[in-house]
Amino acid sequence: MLYIGVDLGTSAVKLLLMDGGGAIQKIVSREYPISFPHPGWSEQNPEDWLKATVDGIRELTAECDKSQVAGIGCGGQMHGLVALDKDDHVLRPAILWNDGRTTEETAYLNTVVGKEKLSSLTANIAFAGFTAPKLLWMKAHEPELFARINKIMLPKDYLNYMLTGVHCTDVSDASGMLLFNVKNKCWSAEMLEICGIRESQMAHIYESYQTVGVLTPAMAKTLGLPETVKVCAGAGDNAAAAVGTATVGDGRCNLSLGTSGTIFISSRKFGVDPHNALHAFAHADGNYHLMGCMLSAASCNKWWMEEVLHTQAYGDEQSGITPEKLGHDHVFFLPYLMGERSPHNDPAARGTFIGLTMDSSRTDMTQAVLEGVAFGMRDSLEVARSLGIDITRSKICGGGAKSPLWRQIFANVLNLDIDTVETEEGPGYGGAILAAVACGEYPDVETAADALVRVTDTVHPDPEIAARYEAQYRKFRQIYPAVKALFPTLQ
Ligand code: XUL
Repeated sequence: MLYIGVDLGTSAVKLLLMDGGGAIQKIVSREYPISFPHPGWSEQNPEDWLKATVDGIRELTAECDKSQVAGIGCGGQMHGLVALDKDDHVLRPAILWNDGRTTEETAYLNTVVGKEKLSSLTANIAFAGFTAPKLLWMKAHEPELFARINKIMLPKDYLNYMLTGVHCTDVSDASGMLLFNVKNKCWSAEMLEICGIRESQMAHIYESYQTVGVLTPAMAKTLGLPETVKVCAGAGDNAAAAVGTATVGDGRCNLSLGTSGTIFISSRKFGVDPHNALHAFAHADGNYHLMGCMLSAASCNKWWMEEVLHTQAYGDEQSGITPEKLGHDHVFFLPYLMGERSPHNDPAARGTFIGLTMDSSRTDMTQAVLEGVAFGMRDSLEVARSLGIDITRSKICGGGAKSPLWRQIFANVLNLDIDTVETEEGPGYGGAILAAVACGEYPDVETAADALVRVTDTVHPDPEIAARYEAQYRKFRQIYPAVKALFPTLQ
């Protein structure tokens, strides 16, 4: 049988067709716009996601035997607020995961409701990009629209709703709403009340690998697929990427270098970081995970290359960064172009170059950008290490992971063995695996991921370079506290 994996990303939807043995038959991708209506705000039109996905599925399945398509599974950008009225019309553009407009609402939740209470109800505290503060923002700033909300959903749940007619979500994505009791996997009645939401507005909750329904007759016709095609609940993109890299079960780690940068640690047991610097979420394999999220990762390099240097020759630009230069430079970059989530929780933070001299070159600055992202990821890894979690190796996925140099920098800055897997399409591959489990091709997610995911390359840290980076990281750690107070004054 064939399975469609959908990665509903921030810049594009990427779709793949996988057979029951895990081989990829075809990959297609469709871009859509993102708008930044104010500095730090970030929105997308859910109808653009749907159109791109429908067109993408049609192209993906154009030449295959459509009777063989058994299931669809989606990994989607997390936390985005999609609100529908009683006629299922989208009430306003979706407010995305990297939108920082909710400073006041986040502060209200963390200080007036209180971090301790939030953590006891949801296992997490409020971050600007989470869904609950966005609902409070809508309530305060768009009360007429807020009053017309009939259904609240996350980005990939909007796709699933349009595919099946079922208002559903999965445990991993629901975890990022701050409305969900992660430990018990149910909506928190108290959090819904705090946000002025009724449970009837919320989706039905599934495990990621469960079937939520089949294609509606109209959608089956539009896609040219059988009405028997099952749609599984799917997962947040990080949990889906973790499945796609076999970061399942206990104590495994995955780094995702996409628009955002995440470090994802799987766990069989529910556990909360006492300082809530790492998110404590449910995993798509039926267990739990801890995660740190940087709001700008590969997007820092894309910004530097395309917006500033006006080039797309990524490899050429990195070719001057030789091993002896690694850890030897004096230029540093703070990668906070959209503010920062983990571990600083500071929407006002901004990107910063520091340490420039007359002999600093374009190559030095490119290197500083690549290293700054790795240092930012190390900040979250250090939180995990401080909790006694012993990590010595990690998978890596996402667009940024295609750069051998960046993988080498990550291995040395984090002092980890870094494995690349054969199929790099983390969330899309994970989505297809979840669909295969939903359709009964595999008994469970762990078995499927372990059977299908193969490591093809490992980068080991070099003791000398890692030691140099250790010293550099200590300097990096001092920069944010030193400039932090300035950021709010720069807005
Ligand atoms: C995770 C997060 C991002 C988005 C990116 O908490 O906000 O990784 O899921 O799509």
